[in-house]
Parts: sequence; C-alpha cells; structure tokens
Amino acid sequence: MNTPSKSKSLIDMRSDTVTRPTPDMLEAMMQADVGDDVFGDDPTVNRLQSMVADLLGKEAALYVPSGTMGNQLALRAQTRPGDQIVLEDGAHIYRYEAGAPAALCGLLVTCVETPDGLLDWPLVEAALNPANVHCAPPSMISLENTHNRAGGRILPQKNVQDIADRAHARGIRVHLDGARLWHAHVATGLTLAELAGPADSVSVCFSKALGAPVGSVLAADKATITEAYRFRKMWGGGMRQSGILAAACLYALDHNLARLAEDHRHARALAVGLDHPALKVNHPVDTNIVIIDVAGPGQDEALLSHLESSGVLGVGFGPGRVRLIPHLEHSDADVGHAVEALNSFVGDRK
Ligand SMILES: Cc1ncc(COP(=O)(O)O)c(C=O)c1O
Repeated sequence: MNTPSKSKSLIDMRSDTVTRPTPDMLEAMMQADVGDDVFGDDPTVNRLQSMVADLLGKEAALYVPSGTMGNQLALRAQTRPGDQIVLEDGAHIYRYEAGAPAALCGLLVTCVETPDGLLDWPLVEAALNPANVHCAPPSMISLENTHNRAGGRILPQKNVQDIADRAHARGIRVHLDGARLWHAHVATGLTLAELAGPADSVSVCFSKALGAPVGSVLAADKATITEAYRFRKMWGGGMRQSGILAAACLYALDHNLARLAEDHRHARALAVGLDHPALKVNHPVDTNIVIIDVAGPGQDEALLSHLESSGVLGVGFGPGRVRLIPHLEHSDADVGHAVEALNSFVGDRK
C-alpha cells in the first residue's frame, strides 16, 4: 500500500522522529556490507557498535531497534524483578514505554516530581527505599538527558556526576536515557564521553533528529552488554542483515550531528518569535524542543487545528500543552511560517 505521508505537504513539527532518509542516506544503506547479526557477522553493525562504544567511552555496545528497547534492556540487564528504580516523573521510561519497567523488568518504579525535569541528589535520595526487608531494594537510578517532557532541558553535568557518585557509593547503578544526548553534546560542547561518563549504561537514538529511519544503541560495560544481548534475543530484537539500517546510523553520525545546532537555533527562534497573549513557552529552550502552554480549556486542540489549517503540524503534550520540534527538514522560512501561524491563532470560535 502506498499511502501518502501526512507530512509531505505540511511543515511537520510533531517530532524529530518524522524525518525521512535522504537520497544520500539511502545510497549509504544500499552500499552497506552486511552479514547475519544474530551470528555477530554483520560488519556494519559491528562497526557502528564499536564506534558508539568509543564515542560514549564505554567497553561495549549493542544495536537495537528502538530507544525503548535500549532503555528496557539497560533496566533488565542491571536489575532483578522486585527491585526499585527511581526516576523523574516526566521520564520517557516511566511515561511513554507502555509500562515496560513493570511488565518486562518487574520493577517497582518510584517517580520524583520536579518543577523543571532536572533531578538532583537530594531529591533522589529522599525517594530511595531504606535497606529493609519490607522494601524493594533500590538498584537503579535512571536519568534523561536531554529531557523530552521538560522541553529538551539539559541536565546539568554536576547533577549527573553527583547523583552517580553517591548512587555508586551505595551500590546503585545509573542508567542514562540519552535518546537526545547528541543535543546536549552540541549545545554544551562537552564530549559524548564526558556526558555519558558518570552513568553505567547509556542509550542513544539515531531516529530522532539525526535522521536515520531506525535504530538505537545501548552502551555499557561488557558484562551488562552480554546480558542485554541475551534479553534482546528473548524479546525478539535479534535482527539479521541489520547492517542496512546501521549504515543509516553511521551516515547520520557523519553528516547530521553538528547540524543539530541549526535545530536549536530554529527552536529558539520559535520561542522568541512567539507573541500571543494565550500562548507561552514556560521553559528555557536549551535544545530542539518547544513546549507551548495554551491558556483556556480545549484551546490546545483548537491551536493544533489552527496550525494544521495553516500548514503546520504540532502534537498535544498533555492538557493545555502543544509541542513543536524543528528538525533537519526545516528551513528558516518554515520556522518563520510556523511563528506566523502561532501568532495568528484567534482561539476556538465554536
Ligand atoms: C527521551 C526518549 N527516550 C526514549 C525514547 C524512545 O525511543 P523509541 O521511540 O525509538 O522507542 C524517546 C522517544 O521519543 C524519547 O524521547
């Protein structure tokens, strides 16, 4: 079936996942040297895994189909059913991974509410269960950098280091959901290895903003990756000639990483250009995500309809909130058009 993509004729800012592979990326995929990755034979997958392990400063890495699988493998490989995991209330792992920490990993999840998505050690410490036979033992803290639901906020590296140092002193592992760690790297100038250094495991995504159609990588120490490899097979994530997909990730690393600065500039332009009494961006725009708070009941839906009729797609992001993410398919003119569309919103006239 050949259904036209909804976004073909629209400025699609629903997510940075909606990008389509460019002809050059497709060519790189066509040229990929492949083998059976379940036998460990795919040279392109192997190259991607070792390149990403090096970039993140970890011993080993595993290519997986999605960010969700990377995160859940990290949890499953480093905890036991019945353990406690602590994470921020808006964390993707908690909100948007279909209950997998409970269903796949058997974890007791404790969420910490923050005003801005930015966890620090005192907040985490207060949420950790005591070492006591009545309680689920705390065995993992999971961080998210950048933080999607908080509007692409960058978690200050001193918080990451502090949380990891103190967690490790108590024998607790730290996972970093780094689906958009690339953005923190480009925005701060810290290397990916510096950003990932304090965490025991880190997952990164190639299908968000970097423009690849599929794929994430989980990086960690060798023992964790060996465990994750076993669970990846169990969960049906063992793929065969997946070098075709890994080639798109290698292409994305080479061509689309540094240009994220342009997406950050576009996101800031959206926020700065917004001049409307009912619409506010209530978070610093650190990277590529803009969350707009919309005043008035039902006005979020009205705004989305207005945007769509003006040729712009956004996505609802909880009551009274609309999210826009500029990405590599967008030009300065597209962003200017989106600003005009936002500022011409006159509300629900029904
Ligand atoms: C912060 C974060 N982590 C993980 C994921 C999951 O990635 P996937 O959709 O590839 O499962 C997403 C997806 O948007 C995300 O934003």
